[in-house]
Amino acid sequence: MLQKLEEVKKEFESGISSIRSLPDMAQFKADFLGKKGKLNALMSGMRDLAVEEKKAFGSKANEVKQVMLAAIEEQGRKIEVEQINAKLEKNRQDISWTDKITDLGQQAAGLHPITKLTRELEDIFLSMGFDILDGPHIEDEYHNFEALNIPESHPARDMQDTFWFKDAEHLLRTHTSNIQIRGMEQKKPPFKFVGPGKVFRCEALDASHEAAFHQLEGMMVGRDISVQHMIHFLRTLLSEIFKKDINVRLRPGFFPFVEPGFELDYECMLCGGKGCPVCKQVGWVEGLGCGMVHPNVLKAGGVDPNEFNGFAFGMGIDRLTMMRYHIDDVRHFHSGNLQFSEQFKAY
Ligand code: PHE
Repeated sequence: MLQKLEEVKKEFESGISSIRSLPDMAQFKADFLGKKGKLNALMSGMRDLAVEEKKAFGSKANEVKQVMLAAIEEQGRKIEVEQINAKLEKNRQDISWTDKITDLGQQAAGLHPITKLTRELEDIFLSMGFDILDGPHIEDEYHNFEALNIPESHPARDMQDTFWFKDAEHLLRTHTSNIQIRGMEQKKPPFKFVGPGKVFRCEALDASHEAAFHQLEGMMVGRDISVQHMIHFLRTLLSEIFKKDINVRLRPGFFPFVEPGFELDYECMLCGGKGCPVCKQVGWVEGLGCGMVHPNVLKAGGVDPNEFNGFAFGMGIDRLTMMRYHIDDVRHFHSGNLQFSEQFKAY
């Protein structure tokens, strides 16, 4: 009997390592340890044994049973781990970024035309030694108006219809000129910088007016800077932007933060000067406001007006972009229409 037990044990040991699935394992367990299993079959033969032999066989059989149970449990765990690993391997996702995305029929994204032109402008200014600054969209009254020589009662505040916050002290900046003040606050003259960004005005919308649009502010402060310098600089700038000579006109313009102040218009490139909805039928587009920085503004920025002076300008980017890409309605810019933005991928 003991020998038979030894044989069953051997059979068990040689079989168990080849079991590869949990159902097979259950079957294997039943074959050896089940009610009708091999171990029980041996045990039922115990009846014919003498008492002493019964005891010896019983304890040996029990020992074998414990060994088998432990082996079954261990093999079961191995199978589970194997199965989990196989599942993980099968469901593996490659989450690393690849440029294969176009292979899936998806389209590579393109930059918005305003972004493209803004970056182009930044490159031009960087090549001329300007720094690029940023300023907040949500601004306080001081930086948007007060420090720019626009006191509270000044009619110029009504020229720019302002989105105010409920606290009556904060607003959405109506121009990028706040960057003049913020720039001066952090720089020591001489300096030159530009600051592009979104600006907001509570306006009625049409083909050339949006409530949110884009400007690029520029400021150059040093010693003995003249209107001549400013005009020469702006001419050079425009020929860089349009990559050709373009008709411009300069006329007096009023902005409280510059003295003297000017407005520079350029010929509408959509209609060639004949007149269209974008240029309001006049053939000219308001390109930028500019002028010599007012002494009060220099003072507000911590610059001594007796020692330094300079010029500033604020350029509209939306209309510039419309001219460059022949876009006939400013409202396309915020339409979110991918078919619109995709057209500029190639440029
Ligand atoms: N901030 C003015 C505007 O929004 C433009 C401007 C900037 C004019 C700088 C003069 C100097 O219209």
